[in-house]
Amino acid sequence: MDQGPPPDVTNVSVTFAPRPDRSARSPTRDSRAGGGSQESSPLLAPRGLEFEYGGFENNYPDDPLYQEVVRMSEEAIDCGRYPERIYQGSSGSYFVKNIDNKIIAVFKPKDEEPYGQLNPKWTKWLHKLCCPCCFGRSCLVPNQGYLSEAGASLVDKKLQLNIVPTTKVVRLSSRTFNYNAIDRAKATTKKNIAENFPQLGKRFHRIGLPPKQGSFQLFVNGYKDADYWLRRFDYEAIPESTARKFQTLFERLVILDYIIRNTDRGNDNWLIKYEIAQVDTDNSKGDSDWNMVDNPDISIAAIDNGLAFPFKHPDEWRAYPYHWAWLPQAKVPFSQEIKDKVLPQLSDMNFVQELCDDLYKLFKTDKGFDRSTFDKQMSVMRGQILNLTQALKDDKSPVQLVQMPVVTVERNRSSSGRLRTDSDSYTQSFSHRTPFFSWC
Ligand SMILES: Nc1ncnc2c1ncn2[C@@H]1O[C@H](COP(=O)(O)OP(=O)(O)O)[C@@H](O)[C@H]1O
Ligand SMILES: [Mg+2]
Repeated sequence: MDQGPPPDVTNVSVTFAPRPDRSARSPTRDSRAGGGSQESSPLLAPRGLEFEYGGFENNYPDDPLYQEVVRMSEEAIDCGRYPERIYQGSSGSYFVKNIDNKIIAVFKPKDEEPYGQLNPKWTKWLHKLCCPCCFGRSCLVPNQGYLSEAGASLVDKKLQLNIVPTTKVVRLSSRTFNYNAIDRAKATTKKNIAENFPQLGKRFHRIGLPPKQGSFQLFVNGYKDADYWLRRFDYEAIPESTARKFQTLFERLVILDYIIRNTDRGNDNWLIKYEIAQVDTDNSKGDSDWNMVDNPDISIAAIDNGLAFPFKHPDEWRAYPYHWAWLPQAKVPFSQEIKDKVLPQLSDMNFVQELCDDLYKLFKTDKGFDRSTFDKQMSVMRGQILNLTQALKDDKSPVQLVQMPVVTVERNRSSSGRLRTDSDSYTQSFSHRTPFFSWC
C-alpha cells in the first residue's frame, strides 16, 4: 500500500497555542470504553434467550433513544425477527427490524465489508482474489468502513449538522448473518450439549453464534434516493421557501463530505424526504390558491458513509469526485447561515483537536488500529477543514471549494515522541495538482 507523501507539495510550519483545559469526550464510545461486564448489563437477555444468542453489551447511556432502538432490535432477534440482507448492496448490509417487522436500522458488520473475511458476495471475493491491486480504494484503510460510518455520525453531531442518522458501533448476532461453517457447527454443537446436558452447558462462556461488530444506523422513514427527487425537481418547480431550505441542507452535506473526504457520495448515497403540502380545507385564510396549502417540507439524510476518512488524498481523484458538485445548488456561494453555524468552530484549532480526539477514541477500538495511519487520516481531515474555513471566509461556492488545491496539515510530535503540551505545531503540505475537473 503506497502511503508516501503526495508529489509536488510545499511544506509550511505553523504554531498554535492550545486551550489549557482541553478535555476530549466521546459520547459514542465512553460507555463501551468502561467495558461494562456482561454480568451486570441490564440488556442481558433472559437465560433462555441468552442461551441461544449470547449476552451482548450494547450500552449507550448518553443516548437513550438510540439505546432503545438497539434494545428493540436485540429483542426482535431473540423473537426470531432476524435482520434481512439488503441485496442491492455491495457487501453485507442488513435491514434490522423491530418485533412488529418494521425496519428500524441498517447494520453493516465489519467482517462482511468488501475487505472483510466473510463478505457474502462471491463476485467481490473473486475480484479480491484475482485482482487485489484494483480492489478497494488505495487511499482508505481497508476493512474499517463501519468506523467511517460511525465517524461520519460523530462529525455530524459535533458540528450539529443533523443530516446523518445516528450511527454507532454495535455488536449483534443473527442466524441470517454470514458465518463460516465452523462457527455455525460450533454453535449447533454447544446448543445441543446445553439442551441435553444442562450442567455441562453452564460451563460454556457463550452459546450461539458469535456477535458481530458493525455500524448500526437508525433507519429514516419516508425518504427516497436523492437521485429520484433531483430528477423530479428538474421539471417540477418547488416553492421558493422549500428551495431555500433545501439549499441550507445541501450546504450541510457539502460541509460533512468535504471534512470527512467522502469518496462515495453518489446521488444514491443521500436521501431526500419531500413532503407534499397538505391541503387546508379551511378557506378563511383568503382565496389565493397558495394560501390554502402549506409549502412542502424537505429533509435530507446522508447515508452510506463507509468510504471516507482517507489517510491520503486519492491519487485517482477523478474517480472519486463529490457528485453533488454537478448540481446547480453547488454554484451558489455558501450562505451566511452556514458560515455562522460552522465557522466559529472550524476556525478554532482546539475544537478541531477535540474532534480528532473523539475520532481517536472511536477508531482505536478496531483490532487493526494503527496510530500512524490514524494520524495521517487526521492530517487529511485537518487540511480539508483548513480549505473549507478559507472557502467560507472568501464567500466561495461548493464548486469553487472542490477546485481548491488539496492540503494536509500534520500535527508534529516532539523529538521524544510525545505530544507537546506547551504548544502544538503543525506542518501544512499543499498539493499543486488540480483537484477537480477544471471545466466544472
Ligand atoms: N439509514 C437509512 N434509512 C433509510 N434507508 C436507508 C438507510 N440506510 C440505507 N438505506 C437504504 O438502503 C440502501 C442501501 O444502503 P447503503 O447504505 O447505500 O448500502 P450499500 O453500502 O450496500 O450501498 C440505500 O440506497 C437506501 O435506500
Ligand atoms: Mg450505497
